[in-house]
Amino acid sequence: MRSVLILLAITITSVAYAQQRPVKNDAYHYKIEKQVIASKGAVVSAHPLASQAGLQMLQQGGNAVDAAIATQLALAVVYPAAGNLGGGGFLVAHLKDGKDIAIDYREKAPAAASRDMYLDKKGNANTALSQDGHLACGVPGTVAGLYTSLPYARLTMQQLIAPAILLAEKGYVITQREANALNRNQDNFKRLNTQGNAFVRNREWKAGDTLIQKDLAATLKRIRDNGRAGFYEGETARLITAEMQRGHGLITTADLKAYEAKERAAVTFPYKAYQVVTMPLPSSGGVALQQMMGMAEKYPLNAWGFHSVSAMQLMIEVERRAYADRAKYLGDPDFVKVPVKQLTSADYLHARMEDYDPQKAGSSKEVTAGMVYESKETTHLSVMDAEGNAVSVTTTLNGGYGSKVVVGGAGFFLNNEMDDFSIKPGVPNMYGLVGAEANAVAPGKRMLSSMTPTIVLKKGKPFIVTGTPGGSTIITSVFQTLVNLLEFNLSAQQAVDAPKFHHQWLPDEVVVEEDFDQTPLDELRRMGYKIERSSPIGRVELIKVNERGQLEAVGDKRGDDSAAGY
Ligand code: DON
Repeated sequence: MRSVLILLAITITSVAYAQQRPVKNDAYHYKIEKQVIASKGAVVSAHPLASQAGLQMLQQGGNAVDAAIATQLALAVVYPAAGNLGGGGFLVAHLKDGKDIAIDYREKAPAAASRDMYLDKKGNANTALSQDGHLACGVPGTVAGLYTSLPYARLTMQQLIAPAILLAEKGYVITQREANALNRNQDNFKRLNTQGNAFVRNREWKAGDTLIQKDLAATLKRIRDNGRAGFYEGETARLITAEMQRGHGLITTADLKAYEAKERAAVTFPYKAYQVVTMPLPSSGGVALQQMMGMAEKYPLNAWGFHSVSAMQLMIEVERRAYADRAKYLGDPDFVKVPVKQLTSADYLHARMEDYDPQKAGSSKEVTAGMVYESKETTHLSVMDAEGNAVSVTTTLNGGYGSKVVVGGAGFFLNNEMDDFSIKPGVPNMYGLVGAEANAVAPGKRMLSSMTPTIVLKKGKPFIVTGTPGGSTIITSVFQTLVNLLEFNLSAQQAVDAPKFHHQWLPDEVVVEEDFDQTPLDELRRMGYKIERSSPIGRVELIKVNERGQLEAVGDKRGDDSAAGY
């Protein structure tokens, strides 16, 4: 009898253990979940371990802001191509008390930067300098952004940063995609760094390898112990400036100490029965999204149908017009006066579509900015909690692994965000975007962004939380995702995975993903559009409230994106 009881006890214990064993959640065995239906809270990000870190905070009593902070910190470890300490980003939130917030932690040009710093003696632009290496780095904003978000959170930074420290210190297993990205960049890592770091190695990375980041763990601990100053002052600041000196970069201790994130008024506008909440300048995303949705609103998109020629043409033409305005007028509002009110007014948007011809392609030579008087990587995360808070964050180093410079001894990549300035009027940046005076380089100025973290409210409550990476294609991807949901009634998963198209004024062409259906493209070609196939566009992270009031969280099929919820 006694032995039967012992056996029973062992069996019960081992069943309980098996149930508790974190099979898919530990850093060495984890699973990508493309879709999760949750009742209390959900997080979706570019990496399963980062989504898990956010979920852990929700389960520990944190709110959506806590989850967003922990997810960003975890991404800085498990998604080094874009998750970051050395970059910047934007957070848009709708809080349960009805308040909308927008936190701007975009990088700034160092004090020693100047308008023509990327031009040679003959006045030719040298994009190699704005895109790779130390001169490409703006003063990082992420850590300041996390601390500016913290008053809206409930847990302590010590709690929020703990998962990231563990992942950096003990390591995590990399996926095939991450191994490929690290392998592709080895030459640049070696060329642009003089100090050893965790990412460079002499044999190929492969799926299943463990990436351990001891220097990064030490940096995260300095932040944990000293707060903002653990990054912008003391040892971390010393390591950043030493790195700058080795590579002839411009960032100084004074630049770091002076950096501040800013709370700004969110862009909010109605679209039919919904209210859209999104990012203001220095992101062009909110203004351009408001313009595109405002121009499109009065056309019968739903009757025309998903990927119908009429709907696609209309969307292409509104995109063309919004991007033409972007190039001319938009820049850091702390430095240039941008006529946002006029650019987004109903009369202006109506007038902008007067030359729209549904029979033939528009032309970017004829459609220029309206007259008003006066290897790519970013990452997005979406969170909703049980209390009614929704948070949308897009954060970036700009290109994949940013400038490719790792701060020696501190273990994190620095951004190459200076390339988002217009380094010379008319010279395209790495996303083919052109700009003008409004987005010229100036000391302390923020470079114009396209990042568009967005929330849609229905009857005043969070209904959709979304955003994406993709450089210049971000705004059109967010636009299409919202149109897919609000006009074409696609499911959350379909809206995210549907092939995308994109027009950005210049070059005057429509880029479409490889798997785009040929039929509407043939018709658009006949109308005079130039169509180019492109690599995958964006990686949308979406949470939508379904008819039953549950949270439907979807990670894009285009990456290792993964949802978590409870
Ligand atoms: O702020 C911007 O608009 C760019 N630095 C974003 C870069 C990006 O999305 C790269 N990802 N694919």
